[in-house]
Amino acid sequence: MADASAPGKIIFSGEHSVVYGEPALAIAINLRCHVKITKDGKGLLITSKNYIQKYYYSTAKLEDVLSGKTINSKLDNIAMAVLTVFKPNEISHKLEINSEIPIGAGLGSSAAVAVATVTAALKIKGQKYDNDTISDKAFICEKIAHGNPSGIDNLIATYGGIVRFQNGNMTKLELEYEIPIIIINTNIPKETKKMVELVKKNWKSNPEKFNDIFNKMGKLTSKIEKELLNNNLERVGNLMLENQKFLEKIGVGIPNIEKLISNLSKLNIYGYKITGAGGGGAMIVLMKNGDTKEAIKIVETLGYDVYETKITNLGVN
Ligand code: MEV
Repeated sequence: MADASAPGKIIFSGEHSVVYGEPALAIAINLRCHVKITKDGKGLLITSKNYIQKYYYSTAKLEDVLSGKTINSKLDNIAMAVLTVFKPNEISHKLEINSEIPIGAGLGSSAAVAVATVTAALKIKGQKYDNDTISDKAFICEKIAHGNPSGIDNLIATYGGIVRFQNGNMTKLELEYEIPIIIINTNIPKETKKMVELVKKNWKSNPEKFNDIFNKMGKLTSKIEKELLNNNLERVGNLMLENQKFLEKIGVGIPNIEKLISNLSKLNIYGYKITGAGGGGAMIVLMKNGDTKEAIKIVETLGYDVYETKITNLGVN
């Protein structure tokens, strides 16, 4: 038996524009995905309370996944995580997934499951590994899940902490304080793959306009990074609101959330924005005075899931 876990994440700034080469800031959060792998039977049996009860990949199905066929669109990325470590005919394993990260919320659940599964598989094989190997393997799985991802999600799930990412390169940032943020899951389901495709379609219809927007979003991300490092949260909040407007412009706003937004404006906050792919999923809210408790109560009474967020430096382990 071997096990591993990896954190979920929020994109603090730069989602979507990061796919077009602009910088993004990602933060690993204290919600984790736990994976346990055991040698058992033939093929791969996936069990999970979060995804489905059980799904069985025979050796033939594993070969199909490896050759690019879709066998189970929700789980092939996870099967691929094992296939990055073992050949199909070597796989005789059971995988148990237990995740605290809501699925389809833009909080990095697919990257965390890929990173944790790759690591558990490497451990049970007794193979030496490092973070770059894990992240690269998980990126293969992310391509199955999301089509054309930037690679930020697998990196942050592997390394943890706070990361600035651009064109495949990352820099770790150190903050001396805890950012007072809460995460609200709007519970409107979204698929990252579809949102990334939608933005691409919009971009293709008017590349000049969209390149200009992405460029402005990139500049905002750099400003947010600077103000975060200066602990100037009021300014960070204003920049988040600007960023939110751009996200709406590129087509990934969350439909029908006016009520939530109007309630947010009444709270003691500096700013809010979509986090991740948008179109649904999660929003992050930056609180004034670390005043999270009251806000959480209010948002809960509106019927949303809400998480008080702590940054975690613990990446995969
Ligand atoms: C998803 O967490 C972030 C996106 O920018 C997609 C990506 O970077 O791969 C929407």
